[in-house]
Parts: sequence; structure tokens; C-alpha cells
Amino acid sequence: MNVKNRTVFSNDNLPVLRGIDTESVDLIYLDPPFNSNRNYSAPIGSEAAGAAFKDTWTLSDVDNAWHGEIADREPALYQAIDAAELTHGKGMKSYLIMMAVRLLEMKRVLKKTGSIYLHCDPTASHYLKVTMDSIFGKNNYRSEITWRRATSTQKGSQHRSLRWGNNADMLLYYAASSSTSLRPERELTESEILKKFKHVDENGQRYYNDSAHIWRTPNMGERPNLCYEWRGFVNPHPSGWRLSKERLEEEYEKGNIVIRPDGKLERRKYLKDYKGASYGNIWDDVLPPAGEERTGYPTQKPVALLERIIKASSNEGDIVLDPFCGCATTCVAAERLQRYWIGIDISPKAVDLVQVRLKKEIGIFGDVIHRTDIPKRSEKLPNYRTHKHTLFGKQEGLCNGCRTQFPFRNMTVDHIVPQSQGGTDHEDNLQLLCGACNSTKGQGTQAELISRLKAQGVLR
Ligand SMILES: C[S@@+](CC[C@H](N)C(=O)[O-])C[C@H]1O[C@@H](n2cnc3c(N)ncnc32)[C@H](O)[C@@H]1O
Repeated sequence: MNVKNRTVFSNDNLPVLRGIDTESVDLIYLDPPFNSNRNYSAPIGSEAAGAAFKDTWTLSDVDNAWHGEIADREPALYQAIDAAELTHGKGMKSYLIMMAVRLLEMKRVLKKTGSIYLHCDPTASHYLKVTMDSIFGKNNYRSEITWRRATSTQKGSQHRSLRWGNNADMLLYYAASSSTSLRPERELTESEILKKFKHVDENGQRYYNDSAHIWRTPNMGERPNLCYEWRGFVNPHPSGWRLSKERLEEEYEKGNIVIRPDGKLERRKYLKDYKGASYGNIWDDVLPPAGEERTGYPTQKPVALLERIIKASSNEGDIVLDPFCGCATTCVAAERLQRYWIGIDISPKAVDLVQVRLKKEIGIFGDVIHRTDIPKRSEKLPNYRTHKHTLFGKQEGLCNGCRTQFPFRNMTVDHIVPQSQGGTDHEDNLQLLCGACNSTKGQGTQAELISRLKAQGVLR
């Protein structure tokens, strides 16, 4: 990884993400602007005073090059974003384009075992789901978590008589691949332990009696291979034991199956083997930041929320990235849990708050690295021309400008985002153009090439 632990970048996250090594991050949590059509600022006098960010989007916020980049890297996604303009308007399209170019980079930097949580609200959550499905793959979608961020909505809201109060956010959780693991369990509270694990054995270990699950019930069907005699016990009906003979013996050896003095069998489930209860996907037990934790930063999220995510989706020493880190909630939670972390925020105020919060909440001062530059990827990329064959196959021999079929030798490798604008030699920034289209594009963007070809009548 080419960025050190405890680094905060004060910069737009797009160029910073482009500069982070491929497959180098274990967990990404992002809490971007929600397309709320509002602008936010911290109250004067609060720790975060001076922090502000806008959340209104028009096509003028969108770099023309992004259209071409998305259309080229994810054509189906570009069509879905275009459709969002029809159903919701230009603001949603602009917002989704801003998000999509960044999510494409997040996918690249995430390890194959990594996880990503996108925090959003109903304003754009359904459109973001489509965007995430396109980028991360619908099979890698794992959960949508509903976080109740307030017990009720504000009194006197002008929309009260029009809709149900909106007091929940959504978190879309995607895995980078099927090898991503998750620990969605929570520890039981003291009273839950006493209620569930009622018995204590001769060694002082708590357990509950699960004897109902020694035999299969008649409605589970007949299983001749599970019908056997074990230590003089025969199952009472033809559906058999729950476990194979070997597993039953194993459980007996471990002390989980006990032959009681009254001659009856008992199956014990011990607290020490219990993995925990699953949180489920409705989180109504995480309270919004209050008291000491509250910095005044607009839209600040609770550390407890981030701790739950980080514990479930990473291990100690893993790298956690928050590309919209605001007042550093993720950084604080990651630091507490001994993870490495990187934060990025366009607001220069964010870095001050990281320093203040880490000092106040964890006692760390001075160790935070503050950068305003763009990191340089350390990975050695092969010469970009070596991708020519793959690209020829991918494009089925068609020029990506005029869409005409050309022989291999007449194709040239072009950088979609020009190198002069930070475009890399990575395969996903490369395409094949015929000689004429390449010189028409020059140092321009893909969108400029397409509009020039249209003006020349080459494309309709
Ligand atoms: C919803 S807030 C994040 C709050 C954060 N989770 C917390 O608990 O403090 C969104 C943040 O995104 C930042 N932001 C907006 N556009 C950005 C961009 N292009 N690059 C980096 N940060 C950006 C804003 O400055 C703001 O701090």
C-alpha cells in the first residue's frame, strides 16, 4: 500500500483514489452527500465551526470526461444513469455520475476479500443500489441495513401531513467477491445470557438444554442412513438422528451429548461455543452522537455505528478507508479497534477535527499525517501497449470512436482519461481507437471525441 497509516488527505477524493494502489484496502465506509438538495454548515461556536459542504447537484458539477469514462467502463450503468434523468431529473443524473466515477475507483482499490458500506438515505438509495449492482456485481450485494438515526422526526415539519417521518438511513453493504467474510454477530448482554443459558454444569460452564434437537421429527421425512443404534439408544421413528454416528460420537466425546443418570439423553449448547446473536439488518440500538462525542460537524455519524461495521468486516491490522471522512468518525473507530486507516475529505476543516478528536478521544497527537497532494501508485503497471490484444478482443475489433471494424495493426492504444489529466496506464483506462479517431481525440476527453465525431457526421 502506497499510503501510510493515519493519513488524512484534504482534497477531492477522486484524484486521491486514483493514486491509491490497486487491491490495497480491506474495508471502505463512505458517507457521501446524499443529494439532499441542501447545503450544510457547522454552527458557529462548535468545534467544527467553519466546516461546510454542499449537497446540490447540477450538470455543471460534473466533469465532461466522467460521462465518457462511465460509458466506456460500465456501458449498462451509463444507460441506468441516463434513465435516472428521465425518472428523477438532471440533478439525480449529475449526482450519480459524481458517485459512479468514485465508486469505480473504490472497486479498484478494494482487495478481493474486502467489503464496502455505502451510507445513504431514501433520496437516492434506490438509484445507488442500481449503481452499486452495476459496479460491484449484483451477486456481491449482501445486505441493506436500516439505521434508525432518530427516534422521531422534527416537530412541526412542513411535510408532516404529506409523508411518514423520515428517521432512518440506509447502508448498502457489498462484498468485493465471494471470498469476503463477515461476522454479523453481537455479544449477548448479561441478562440475555442468564435467560438463554439457564444451566450450569459441574465445571461451572453455562449451557442450555437442546435435547429437542437430538432426533429428526417425523415430518422431516425418512432417512435410513440416519437410523442406527448408538450406545444402546435407538431413535424412536424412521426419520433418524439429527447427526451422523461419527458426529454424534464426537459430540459425546466433547461433552455436548450427555447420558444422564436417569438414562435419558441430553444435548447441551454451551455459552463458550456460542457465536452470538445476529444483529439483523434493522439497527435501532445505535444512538446519534451526543454529549462529548458531538463535534457540531454537520451530518456527523456515531462512532458506535462505525465500530460495529469495522468489527464485523475487518480484522486487527486491516486497512480501513473513508473517502468522505468528515469529522473523522471512521478514523476514530478504526484507531480504537487497532485498524490502519486513511481518511479523505475535501473540507480543510476535516483534518483539524481528526487531530482534535484523536487527541481528545484516544490521546494521540502529532501522529496524523496530513497530505494535500495526490499519492503516486507504487504498483508496477506493464507497458500500456501490452494490453492491445486483450482490448482488441474486448472491443471485438471495433474502434471505440467511430465504431468501425479495423484490422489489429490499424488500431492504436488510447488513454480514456488522458495522461495529462491524471489518467493511468491501467487496463481500465485504456481503449483502442483507429488512427483517425485517435488524432481527432488528441489530448481531449472521450466525450469531446464523441461530440467531434458527431459534428463531423461520422456518428449520429
Ligand atoms: C455526510 S458528510 C460525512 C460525515 C462523516 N461520516 C462524519 O461522521 O463526520 C460528507 C462529507 O463529504 C465531504 N465531501 C463532499 N464531496 C467530497 C469530495 N469530492 N471529496 C472528498 N470529500 C467530499 C464533505 O466535505 C463532507 O465532510
